[in-house]
Amino acid sequence: MIAVENLSKLYGDRIAVDDVSFTVKKGEVLGFLGPNGAGKSTTMRMITGYLAPSAGKITVGGFEVKHEPLKTKALIGYLPEIVPLYPEMSVRDYLKFIAAIKGIPGREQRERIAAIIRRCWLTEYADRLIAHLSKGYRQRLGLAQALIHNPPVLILDEPTSGLDPKQILETRELIRSLAGDHTVVLSTHILPEVQNVCSRVLIINAGKVVAEDAPERLEAKLKGAQTIHLEVRAPQDKLTVLLAGFPGVRTAHAHPKGQEFPDMVAVDLDAEPGDDMRARLAAAVINAGWDLLELRAARLSLEEIFLKLTTDEVASPAEIKEVASVQG
Ligand SMILES: Nc1ncnc2c1ncn2[C@@H]1O[C@H](COP(=O)(O)OP(=O)(O)O)[C@@H](O)[C@H]1O
Ligand SMILES: [Mg+2]
Repeated sequence: MIAVENLSKLYGDRIAVDDVSFTVKKGEVLGFLGPNGAGKSTTMRMITGYLAPSAGKITVGGFEVKHEPLKTKALIGYLPEIVPLYPEMSVRDYLKFIAAIKGIPGREQRERIAAIIRRCWLTEYADRLIAHLSKGYRQRLGLAQALIHNPPVLILDEPTSGLDPKQILETRELIRSLAGDHTVVLSTHILPEVQNVCSRVLIINAGKVVAEDAPERLEAKLKGAQTIHLEVRAPQDKLTVLLAGFPGVRTAHAHPKGQEFPDMVAVDLDAEPGDDMRARLAAAVINAGWDLLELRAARLSLEEIFLKLTTDEVASPAEIKEVASVQG
């Protein structure tokens, strides 16, 4: 449903998104998990067509975003990081305005708006001015405007940010209920967010996809994981056998380095946490009579990313208090 190929974005000479590729199948809920500044919002803005990539190609529903922006925009419901709301409008008037923009026929509008107000728990607030909504209710209204035309694809940038704990649970439930009929990409900078909502997770750090997995396998992978990159001049099958049986190696993916390097094999391996196996690994390769051309630990270990993702606060006590007082 969504295909992203070699996507990059530069702001001046700073790279915000660095050669990112992934696909999302119909009905899947894909999570972007990464610390603040990782490039999640930038990637989402490019998928939705609100920001032009510096390089790469994006297709949504088979249409290329660059060439058919109106078609792809019509397929997408987008909750941006900052929702453009009009404070002087009421919730219902704002949704009427959005329904008209999205081309929902006049006779269907009333029913559609009523349904989305119920679905996003806005019933008691339907006639309230947006200026008087708490942050959590503005976020719900943002979700309502994304869902109102029942788009097949939803791009939700930090959908639970600013919500109180009860609202977070309700919103996760809502997102889960969308799976199957809708294709969803959501972003978050907190680990628990992805664990019971997403079917697959991409971990993004410093503009790059650094890991991809099912959420239930993520935590183990993140905690104390160590990634080592090797380049060896060796027969690939023999090298694979050696690495697969090597103490402390969890998985090893070997592939030929490319046509320019006919007898070279590149390997990325996941190592057990704790002990540093690099010296043993180097010795084993050399003892086997092969040339070791490169051996390095991954640029930023998943462990560090894990710490960033789990120590960021979900919501500060002050924010929760503010939400509670506005609602009460
Ligand atoms: N409009 C902009 N101009 C310059 N730099 C930007 C702009 N938007 C984002 N950035 C930078 O790009 C990087 C990625 O940002 P962003 O996509 O917002 O990350 P995330 O959503 O993962 O927190 C950050 O370093 C951020 O400072
Ligand atoms: Mg962001």
